[in-house]
Order: sequence, then structure tokens, then C-alpha cells
Amino acid sequence: MQVINQGPLDSLEQWDDHVKGRYRVDRKKEEFRVYDDSTPPVVREFYRQNHANQTYDFACAKLAEYVPLRHGKMGIWEAMDRLNEIVDDSDPDTDLSQIEHNLQTAEAIRAAGHPRWFQLTGFIHDLGKVLTMWGEPQWAVVGDTFPTGCAWSARIVFPEFFAANPDGEKPHLQTLLGVYQEGAGLDQVKMSWGHDEYLYHVTKAYLPEPAQYMIRYHSWYSAHRERDYGYLMTPHDEAMMSPMPNPS
Ligand SMILES: [Fe+2]
Ligand SMILES: [Fe+2]
Repeated sequence: MQVINQGPLDSLEQWDDHVKGRYRVDRKKEEFRVYDDSTPPVVREFYRQNHANQTYDFACAKLAEYVPLRHGKMGIWEAMDRLNEIVDDSDPDTDLSQIEHNLQTAEAIRAAGHPRWFQLTGFIHDLGKVLTMWGEPQWAVVGDTFPTGCAWSARIVFPEFFAANPDGEKPHLQTLLGVYQEGAGLDQVKMSWGHDEYLYHVTKAYLPEPAQYMIRYHSWYSAHRERDYGYLMTPHDEAMMSPMPNPS
């Protein structure tokens, strides 16, 4: 098995653990913006790489590369197994962690009384992390997502790291709307590339629309938690994003 660990995190689990702490339900809104010495250095480094490299051109290029869906064919369980194997290699202590994360998410949704399609969505929501198998670095697989091609919200974590993003030098990408029309709709928006966007394209033909929104935007915290970027949404997008159950 190939060991793929192109990034500062020890494993993709480290990302899940960080998100769990940062966005826990009882966390006060004010605490969300606090990044200090308690933020692990590898997480800071992860964000530094993510914010420096996720440009509009990069997002467009990855869509063109992956959306034809030519990289592989596998069932849900095989994808889950493959993901686990990758994670095992980078962190042998977390044998079943991806499957456990996905099962726990699905079980929490079931226990809350939600329908079966929603449970299924929780179960598969992170399978896009198989992007790692094709050599994508961590910063192009996990992490908070955000729209590219327009000004970055100040509510994105570590906004200061966008100073190293080449799009900052392109004035037409730095206006509030950038390349988009007001209310153009989220389907027009090129999100930073990662497991959310990829899995959306893989599964959209098979799932109801609310599930598609959950999968595609579950890491877009500046929108579904911070309620920013409404100016890019149609009324229908707003309705689908609010309230957005968040499987993390
Ligand atoms: Fe995720
Ligand atoms: Fe997750």
C-alpha cells in the first residue's frame, strides 16, 4: 500500500478531531474566531498551505480534471476500505477510524430520528477523501471550503493566510462578487477544491437535493455556520443551506 501523506497533518483523522473540537455544539460563537497557541502548529500550517494554494484557477482546473469521473470505479464499501488503508499507513493507531467516523455520523443522524436518505448521506459524506489515493495533497482534500473567484470572507478561519494567495493580486477576483453575479446561485460558484465538491459530483445523480447540498457544502463553515456569502445564493440556495445539518 502506498503511503500518502503530503501535508503537515499526521493523518486525515487529525483534521476530523480538530473540527470536532472547534465546531462542537456547545461552543460559543465568540470562541469560533479564537486562534491562539492552543491551535496545533500542524493545523496552522495546514491552513497556511490551504489558503495560499486554493486559487480560482486551481479550483477550475480540479473540476475539469475530476468531474468527468474517470479516476476509478468502486462501490461504497470498497471506497471506505481504500480510505481506511490509506489512513492506516499514515497512522497505525487509527485502524477503523474513517469507517467509525462515518458510522458514528450515520448513527447520530438515525438516533435523531432523521430519514434513511439522511442516514446514508451521513455515512458517505466523507468518502470524497479518496482523492488522497490519486496523490492530492491534504490542502486539496480536507479543510474548510470557501468560494474562489471573489473576495474572501473575513469569517473564514485564519484569513491572514490569504495574503500568500496569488488571487490577492488580481483585482477582479477581489471584489465582493468577483466573477459572479449577485444571487447567481451556488451552482455557479467554484468552491475551493476538496472532498466535498468531488463527492457531490460522484453522488448527485443518486441522492435527493438536500443530501446533495449537505455533501457539497458540509465544510463551508463561513456560510452554514457564520451565515456569510448570502449574496451569492438564490432564495432556493438559502432555503437549502438553512438550517444545514452538519455532519462535519
Ligand atoms: Fe468532511
Ligand atoms: Fe466528516
